[in-house]
Amino acid sequence: MSTASPLIIALDYPSMDAALCMADRLDPSRCRVKVGKELFARGGPEIVEALHGRGFEVFLDLKFHDIPNTVAGAVQAAAEQGVWMVNVHASGGRRMMEAARERLDSQRLETRLIAVTVLTSMSDADLAEVGVSSSAADHVERLARLAQASGMHGVVCSAQESARLRDICGDDFLKVTPGIRPSFASTDDQQRILTPAEAMQAGSTHLVIGRPVTQADEPMAALSAIENELGL
Ligand code: C5P
Repeated sequence: MSTASPLIIALDYPSMDAALCMADRLDPSRCRVKVGKELFARGGPEIVEALHGRGFEVFLDLKFHDIPNTVAGAVQAAAEQGVWMVNVHASGGRRMMEAARERLDSQRLETRLIAVTVLTSMSDADLAEVGVSSSAADHVERLARLAQASGMHGVVCSAQESARLRDICGDDFLKVTPGIRPSFASTDDQQRILTPAEAMQAGSTHLVIGRPVTQADEPMAALSAIENELGL
């Protein structure tokens, strides 16, 4: 099932059963779902298949980073499972990203391919320690430009970065944004949060939302409240 919703619900669960339990409480016509490393390490392709079977489009958030040929193969394998979106690390470089995009194109696979620029867990001091002397903000811009020039459909970015990246990369370049907290939700462990409406106004094209929906007593009621905040 294809949806026009910008909402991607993060299924951050340690077991396939728990993830599918939550998926069964969500409506695939009103959101997509994200499968990350922990769930995939446990559930493998079977979890993706089970979510597809329930009608969900899946963002496979495995952040591939390796030599070009290996990443191209991994992206192809993900795309052949029919996932809607997959991602790589932009710091893997131009040749790695181009190889991944070329592989999708040569196989006529339409999976969206996006890049992580700088992990939001990295401070300027962390970057300096791995040899990056520019600020995190400058490095994000550099990697976003490189991702676009290397054929990526977009980037994962914080809502704080969306406006600047919209100026640099345009409206059509996807900006997939976690760290979102609706006005009704608690902040959990997220630091620099924006509401869904603020993030969309800043230029984010898709919002990754986990606990405000998955920990709610009524996940679809929480989703409806977010849709209302967005005027959907
Ligand atoms: O529960 P919550 O809404 O905080 O979940 C956000 C999701 O987005 C999680 O899957 C988390 O790993 C992911 N994420 C994030 N911050 C980033 C990148 C990814 O919260 N910078």
